[in-house]
Amino acid sequence: MKINTIVVVTDNVVKQYYGYALRKAFKSLNCKIVLLSFPAGEKSKNINTVISLQTQMLNHFCSRETLIIALGGGVVGDIAGFVAATYMRGISYIQIPTTLLAMIDSSIGGKTGINLSHGKNLMGLIYKPKITIACIDFLASLPRKHIINGVVEALKVFLISNIIHFNKFRRRLNKILDYDKKSLETLVRHSANIKMNIIKQDLHENGLRAVLNFGHTIGHALEKISRYKILHGYAVAYGILFEAKISELLGILAPEKYDAIKTVFNQLGFHESYFKRFDVNSIIKATYSDKKARSNKINYVLLKDIGKIYSYRSSYTHPVHDKTIKKAFLTLIGEKYHAR
Ligand SMILES: NC(=O)c1ccc[n+]([C@@H]2O[C@H](COP(=O)([O-])OP(=O)(O)OC[C@H]3O[C@@H](n4cnc5c(N)ncnc54)[C@H](O)[C@@H]3O)[C@@H](O)[C@H]2O)c1
Repeated sequence: MKINTIVVVTDNVVKQYYGYALRKAFKSLNCKIVLLSFPAGEKSKNINTVISLQTQMLNHFCSRETLIIALGGGVVGDIAGFVAATYMRGISYIQIPTTLLAMIDSSIGGKTGINLSHGKNLMGLIYKPKITIACIDFLASLPRKHIINGVVEALKVFLISNIIHFNKFRRRLNKILDYDKKSLETLVRHSANIKMNIIKQDLHENGLRAVLNFGHTIGHALEKISRYKILHGYAVAYGILFEAKISELLGILAPEKYDAIKTVFNQLGFHESYFKRFDVNSIIKATYSDKKARSNKINYVLLKDIGKIYSYRSSYTHPVHDKTIKKAFLTLIGEKYHAR
C-alpha cells in the first residue's frame, strides 16, 4: 500500500489531548500529515461533517494514496470510517480508539455511518479498518462516566458469551472504575477478542452477529426517547436489565440469574426505578423504528443464562409480544400487571 498523505481525523476535545501530539510524532514520516477535526459529540455525526471533511481533503489534494487515521471515540470512528469508505470510492483507514467504548466496541467490526433526522446510524456501510490500535494510556484523561459507558458494553459481551469473564470482571469493577491500567487492559483484550470472533463468523449480521444487540432494542428506544441525551452505554445498561427481565418472564432465564445481573448493574448505578419516568407505550413505539425491526416484528435477543444466549430453530432473535414488554416494564417499576 503506497501512502503519500496521512489525514488524522479527530474531534476538538481529542485534538487538544492527543491530536497535535500525534501529528508531531508523525513528522519524521516521509509523507504529508493533515490534522482535521470537528466539534465533539453525537450532533456532529451527520452528512455535513462528512462533506466538510471530504472537501478539506480535496483542498489538501488528497488522492487515493491517502490513509485516514480515526483518532477518538465512537463518533470519530464512525464518521472517519464513513469518510474513508466513500472518499474517491474508498481509501484505507486505521482506527485509534480513545474511549473505552470505542476500544471494546465501535472500532471493531467495520460498522461506519452517520445519523439522519429519522434516527441513528441510518446511513452507513460496513468498511473494515486496516488495523485497530487500542492504547490504554488514552483512558487516563477519559471522564469516569465514559469509563462506565464502555464497561457496560464489555459486560454485555461477557453476558452473552462467557460466565467466567463476567464473574471475573464483576469482582474487578472497583479497580476498573479506579482506572487500574492492568484491569482495563484485560477488560479490553477479552471483550474485543470475543467481539472479533463473533464478527469473523458473521460480518454482515445475517445471524450470529445479532447476539451483540442484546440490550440494544430497548437501549435504542431509550436513546431515541431521550433525544440522545443519554449515553449509548447507559441506555444499553437499562436495555440489558429490561431484556433480561423479559427473558425471565418468558421462563428462559432463571430469576436468581436475573438478580445476579441486577446486582452488578446496581453497583454501576443503574437501577430499575429509572423506568418510572417512562411511559411503556412510548418505549414500545420507539422500538418499532429500530433498524433491526424486520417485517414489523420487534425481535429481541434473549438470555438463557449468564454467558449464554437463547437460540431457537437456529435463530438468535425472537419476536416478543407487546403484552410481555408491558409486563416486564411493570415488574421493573414494582407494579402489578393486569391483563386487559
Ligand atoms: N460502529 C460501531 O460498531 C458502533 C458501536 C457502538 C457505538 N457506536 C457509536 O459510537 C458513538 C459513541 O462513542 P463514544 O461513547 O466513544 O462517544 P464519543 O466519541 O462522543 O466520545 C465521548 C466524549 O469523550 C471525549 N473523548 C474521547 N476520548 C477521550 C480521551 N481519551 N480523553 C478525554 N476525552 C475523550 C470525546 O471528545 C467526546 O466528547 C455513538 O455514535 C454510537 O452510535 C458505534
